[in-house]
Amino acid sequence: MYESFYGLTGRPFQLSPDPSYFYGSREHKRAYAYLEYGLHQGEGFIVITGEVGAGKTLLVRNLLDHLNPDQVVAAHVVSTQLDADDLLRAVAASLGLPARGVDKGSLLAELERFLQRLASENRRALLVVDEAQNLTLRAVEELRMLSNFQMGSRALLQSFLIGQPELRRILQSPGMQQFRQRVIASYHLGPLDLAETQGYIQHRLTHAGWAGDPELEEDAYKAIFAFTEGVPRRINLLCNRLLLAGFLAEQHVLGTTDVEGVAKEIREELGGSGRPDDIAEIGERVREYHTDPKRTGEAPRGWNGSSEGSDPDGQSRDRIGAGASELSARVSRLEKAVTHLLELLRRRSG
Ligand SMILES: Nc1ncnc2c1ncn2[C@@H]1O[C@H](COP(=O)(O)OP(=O)(O)O)[C@@H](O)[C@H]1O
Ligand SMILES: [Mg+2]
Repeated sequence: MYESFYGLTGRPFQLSPDPSYFYGSREHKRAYAYLEYGLHQGEGFIVITGEVGAGKTLLVRNLLDHLNPDQVVAAHVVSTQLDADDLLRAVAASLGLPARGVDKGSLLAELERFLQRLASENRRALLVVDEAQNLTLRAVEELRMLSNFQMGSRALLQSFLIGQPELRRILQSPGMQQFRQRVIASYHLGPLDLAETQGYIQHRLTHAGWAGDPELEEDAYKAIFAFTEGVPRRINLLCNRLLLAGFLAEQHVLGTTDVEGVAKEIREELGGSGRPDDIAEIGERVREYHTDPKRTGEAPRGWNGSSEGSDPDGQSRDRIGAGASELSARVSRLEKAVTHLLELLRRRSG
């Protein structure tokens, strides 16, 4: 919506991870180096953790984009509470093997044959499990079993486990010693610092055709950093809103007051800390929590970061109410934007 107003050619702060926007911050470069090291080793597990929105999925996409398919065949699985058998099926399916209606023994035999064939062609298999904090202990154990497949002394499969910080806790639990022995490296992907937050924003803008409009004042970057704590996803959400607000007010210079205005608006919509990542997520999570009976053990995180496990019903209904009022606020902002757009068009053609 604001793209043409600012002369941009792309969407600088879209949420879906697009590798062409990749910004090599110190943390992202380091995490990437771990993955490359892992690839080089050709066996065992590499574990990468990071907060929601830290850039894990983009990092992996970036790596997969750079793999030579003549050398490495990648299976990319996103775990949504997968148990051992589901995981095996998901792995087989993502390698293009038939997985439905096949019993576990045949599935394993099929997988092993496939991996051996790859090895005999001098190719390797890489399994990437994203959102791995959702794996059950049995599923992790199943992964360990898969890592036992060998041809001679050579491992047939190596795996990257990518997940939220809970993943570490799962892997540190007492039953996981054997698994831990197979982990060749692990890394926690941290947030950006202030300078990188500025670099990140400018990098994404430039990739979307930015030629300095809008101009963000020095202090605006500080305010963005303070509000988002350098988490890329939060930065995207906040900047998206900031540019929309700038467009609606026909502003070409944006400062601290503008950032704080947007941040305040976000806070008022939801109350609490109103961190940008929570805004997109909370409605979704609460709905999932209440419709999925398996999730009763784990309460969703509220916008103020607290767990609502002690009174899920009462509080969550309030959250759904908050989701609805957020939606209506969004609709009215959108209405305002459309009216504004029509007005601009009318003025230009008249
Ligand atoms: N290094 C980076 N360069 C450019 N964009 C990034 C970077 N890290 C994260 N992002 C962006 O931030 C958002 C969240 O990243 P994502 O990979 O989905 O996070 P995670 O998987 O850790 O939750 C996405 O829009 C992604 O494109
Ligand atoms: Mg992700």
